[in-house]
Amino acid sequence: MADKLYYPHPELAKNAYCSSLEQYRKMHEISVKNPQEFWSEIAKEFYWETPATEDKFFSYNFDLNKGDIFIKWMEGASTNISFNLLDKNVKSGNGDKIAFYWEGNDPDDYSRLTYRKLLEEVCRFANVLKSKGVTKGDRVAIYMPMILELPIAMLACTRIGAVHSVVFGGYSSDSLAERIMDSKAKILITTDGVWRGEKLLILKSICDEALKKVKKNSHEVECCIVVAHLRRLSSPQSAKSDSTGKTNGVNGTSDNAFDIPEIPWDDDRDCWWHDEVEDAEDKCYPVWMNAEDPLFILYTSGSTGKPKGVLHTTAGYLIYAATTFKYVFDYHPSDVYWCTADVGWITGHTYVVYGPLANGATSIIFEGTPFYPENDRYWAVIDKYKVTQFYTAPTAIRSLMKFGDDLVKKHDLSTLKVLGSVGEPINAEAWLWFYNLVGHGKCSISDTFWQTETGGHVITPLPGATPMKPGAASFPFFGVLPEILDEDGHLVEGEGEGYLVFRQPWPGMMRTLYGNHQRFQSTYFDKFHGYYCTGDGARRDADGYFWITGRVDDMLNVSGHLMSTAEVESVLTEHSSVAEAAVVSKPHPVKGQCLYCFITPNEGAKFDKKLQDELKKRVRERIGPFAQPDVVQYAPGLPKTRSGKIMRRILRKIAAGDRNVGDISTLADESIVNVLFQLRSQV
Ligand code: WT7
Repeated sequence: MADKLYYPHPELAKNAYCSSLEQYRKMHEISVKNPQEFWSEIAKEFYWETPATEDKFFSYNFDLNKGDIFIKWMEGASTNISFNLLDKNVKSGNGDKIAFYWEGNDPDDYSRLTYRKLLEEVCRFANVLKSKGVTKGDRVAIYMPMILELPIAMLACTRIGAVHSVVFGGYSSDSLAERIMDSKAKILITTDGVWRGEKLLILKSICDEALKKVKKNSHEVECCIVVAHLRRLSSPQSAKSDSTGKTNGVNGTSDNAFDIPEIPWDDDRDCWWHDEVEDAEDKCYPVWMNAEDPLFILYTSGSTGKPKGVLHTTAGYLIYAATTFKYVFDYHPSDVYWCTADVGWITGHTYVVYGPLANGATSIIFEGTPFYPENDRYWAVIDKYKVTQFYTAPTAIRSLMKFGDDLVKKHDLSTLKVLGSVGEPINAEAWLWFYNLVGHGKCSISDTFWQTETGGHVITPLPGATPMKPGAASFPFFGVLPEILDEDGHLVEGEGEGYLVFRQPWPGMMRTLYGNHQRFQSTYFDKFHGYYCTGDGARRDADGYFWITGRVDDMLNVSGHLMSTAEVESVLTEHSSVAEAAVVSKPHPVKGQCLYCFITPNEGAKFDKKLQDELKKRVRERIGPFAQPDVVQYAPGLPKTRSGKIMRRILRKIAAGDRNVGDISTLADESIVNVLFQLRSQV
C-alpha cells in the first residue's frame, strides 16, 4: 500500500526558495553532475580574499584501491568565516539586526545580541586569545553551557585561525580530559557553572578534575578562561555591563539572587573572561585562511570506544552550512529560527552557529530544558519570540507528547512555518503529533538525516518542494549521491534495503579524523571501496524515498546521542566485581533506544542491587548522564561464537524479550540463550 503523502502548504510553497519537486530534481541533477557549476555560483555570495582557481575547484579520491582518501574543495581560495558571518552582515546593513536572542534557564533571564555587537565581542575575545599566545592552527577546547559567550568563543577562534574543539557541557571530566589530550588543546574556555532546570552544575570543578588528569598524562593546558555566568545571574547589577550585550536594550536578569558555591581556582592558570575582555580592543583584523585549513574538531563516538576527532575545514563547510540552512528551513530575512540542540553537538555547530549567521538570520539560544519551569517551556518560547522555524529531536517530541495536548494548545504557535527533526528516525506517531498539533497541519517537517561527519544535512525533505511521508528522510540534498549496497557491496537498485553509502563528496563533509587519517580511511572507506560508508542502514521505497533504518554497526543511539557498545563495556569491566560485560540497545518509548547491559560477575563477587546501582552510576560519571543504563542484567555466560565473538544480535533479542532469535547454530554454547531469557524475567 502506498504511504500517505503530506503536501507542502501552498502558501509555504509559493514563497519557498525551492518550490516544487521538479525544481528540486533539476537543481539536484546539476549539483551532482556538475558540482563546480553548482557550488561556484553559491560561493559568489560570500567574500573571498583570494578566489578559487577554476581548475582546482574540486578534487577527491573515495577509492582506497587508488590510494589515500582525500577531499578538497576550492583549493587556492582564502577567506575568513567570522568575516563572512559578521563583518559582511554588518556592512550590508544588518548591523542592528538581532543575531541571537538568549533565553536563560529561568524565564526571567534573557538578553540579545545584534550583529554589530556580536562582531565587537568576537573581536574583543579574539584579541584576548591572541594575548594568551593562541595563533593560527592552535587548538582551543571549549566546555560551556548554552550562553552567548559560547558562539563568541567559537567565532573568536575562527577570527584568528585557531581550531575550536567544543566538548558538550554534559560530558564527564574523564570524557573532557580525553578530548583535550587528543586535540592537544592549548587553552580551555569554560564557565563557573550553570543551572539546568533546578539543578546546579559546577562546570569549573569538572574542568579542574579534567585538567589534573590531563597533566598526569603529560599534556598541560596553559590557561583556563572562565565566564562568571553564575555570578552575573545572582547579581543583576553586574549583569548590566557584561559582555553579552545585555546593555543594548530590552532585557533583564531576574532578581532571584542565590549563593554561589565556591569554585576551585588556580591563580597561575585561571582567569575571568570579564577581566580579560575589559581592556581588549573591539576590532581584530581577520586571519585569511586557506579553503582547506582546519576550522574545528568535534568528537563523536567510535565503535572501538575511543572517540573520533572529526575534522571540518573552512570553505566547504561554510558554503554547505549556509546552503543547507537556507533551503532545508527555507529561512527568509524576517523569520525567527530556533534550534534546540546544544552547541556541543554538530547540530548546534552547523544549525545554531554557522548556518544561521551565514544567512544573516535571527535565532534563539536556549539555555534551559523543555521541562522547566513547566513542561510547556518549548511552546512558551515559540510563542514569546514568534518563532517561524523550530528544529528539535524526536526524543524531545516523544517526551513532550506524554504531557497531553493542552500544554501545546495553551500557546500561540501560529507563526510556525517549518518544523525540523534530527538525531534518530522519527516514528510515525511522533511525526503526526508534531505535524497536527504543533504545526497545525500547515507546517512542513524536515526530517533531516545527517551525521557529525557529514557536516550538514544529507538526506532531507525541502519544505516547499517535497511531499512528506511520516518517518522518511526522503531525498538527498544538493551535491549528495546516496546508494544502497548489499552485504557483498552490490548496488541495490530501485526498491530495497541495505547499507547507506555515498558515492561522491559534498563540500561540507569531514576531511579526516584529527591526527589519525588511517582510522578515517578504515572506518569510512574500507568496507566498500569507492564509497563513504555511513554506518546506517536504509530502505528505498517504490517512490524513491529514503527511510533510515538505524545503525548497522556496534553503535547505540540514546535520545539522539551516539555511543559505542565498546565505550560503555570498557567502563563496566573496570569494576572489580565484573568479569565480562556486553551492552546492547533496547527499544525505548521516549529515548528511542536505551542501554541494556549483561554482566558476568567475577568468581565470588555478588550480583545484587548494590552492584547494579554502582555500575549505572559509574557509566553516568565516566561518560555522562545521558549514557546511564536502564537495565543491568546478570549473565552467567554470554552468547559467543566458537571464535569468541559476542553475538550482540542475540542479546538485542533477549533485551527486547523477543524469542524469535533466528539461527544460533554458530554459538559455542546454545543453552546460554535460554538461561538469559529466564534471568531476564527477574530484572
Ligand atoms: C547518527 C549521527 C546529525 C546530527 C545529530 C546526530 C542518526 C541522525 C537522523 C534522522 C534517522 C538519524 C544516524 C546517524 N540520525 N539524524 N533524521 N533519521 N537517523 O549526530 O551524533 O553524528 O549521529 O544519528 O544513525 O548516523 P551524530
